[in-house]
Amino acid sequence: MTVLAVKDVSVSYGAVQALRSASMHVDPGELVVIVGANGAGKSSLLRGIAGLTSASGSVEFAGTDVSRHPAERRVRAGLCLVPEGRHIFGSMTVLENLQVATWGSRQRLRDELPRIYELFPVLEERHAQAAATLSGGEQQMLAISRALVRHPRLLILDEPSMGLAPLMVKRMFELISEIHHAGTSVLLVEQNARQALSIADRGYVMETGRLSGGASSAEMLADERLHSAYFGTQS
Ligand SMILES: Nc1ncnc2c1ncn2[C@@H]1O[C@H](COP(=O)(O)OP(=O)(O)O)[C@@H](O)[C@H]1O
Ligand SMILES: [Mg+2]
Repeated sequence: MTVLAVKDVSVSYGAVQALRSASMHVDPGELVVIVGANGAGKSSLLRGIAGLTSASGSVEFAGTDVSRHPAERRVRAGLCLVPEGRHIFGSMTVLENLQVATWGSRQRLRDELPRIYELFPVLEERHAQAAATLSGGEQQMLAISRALVRHPRLLILDEPSMGLAPLMVKRMFELISEIHHAGTSVLLVEQNARQALSIADRGYVMETGRLSGGASSAEMLADERLHSAYFGTQS
């Protein structure tokens, strides 16, 4: 059974159609990446999958058609989106942010903390600090942790490397790869196409509202047509 099966999903904002009939899937244990330019429609697809924007077409999650389920119900089923821009609570501490994510349950938080602190030791050091005082990379780690404490069956990450310093970008991809190898299926949207594909199993390309591809990341990395458009000039 696939974890996620998206069929003919379209998203419009008023008269503007941002996404046209997108179909894609994520199999259990896969890390799938969607690459594409700014404004191509990547976040619109992710918001449609998460139920955060109205979308036509169908979204099947772990064998259930969730197309009409509200966002909160999809989260509780294990479909967890870490949105672009992180959306953490800046005036709350790191620990308080995590507690909101466990729906206020202290017991659940205590159970989850060892795993989170093992993956992101810096969050343990900074647990009593207001989230707004963290670096960009640390804020992204916190945003990802807020999804992880919910034990996602699918972790969806919208541009996790955005705005981070180059060394932190590299670290972020290593961490995502670790989360993936520990057994979580991941759907990753990235503008750092080459680095994202280097940790992915398969990939899709989003171009002005149209999604295509689905080939292995090795094939995509070797695809000449993608080189000039998405991989830049660095090796
Ligand atoms: N809330 C919105 N209202 C109107 N237009 C939007 C909204 N969000 C996105 N768009 C437009 O939809 C298109 C796709 O945006 P988006 O899905 O955010 O692309 P990406 O994530 O690939 O950068 C863009 O033209 C963008 O301007
Ligand atoms: Mg986006």
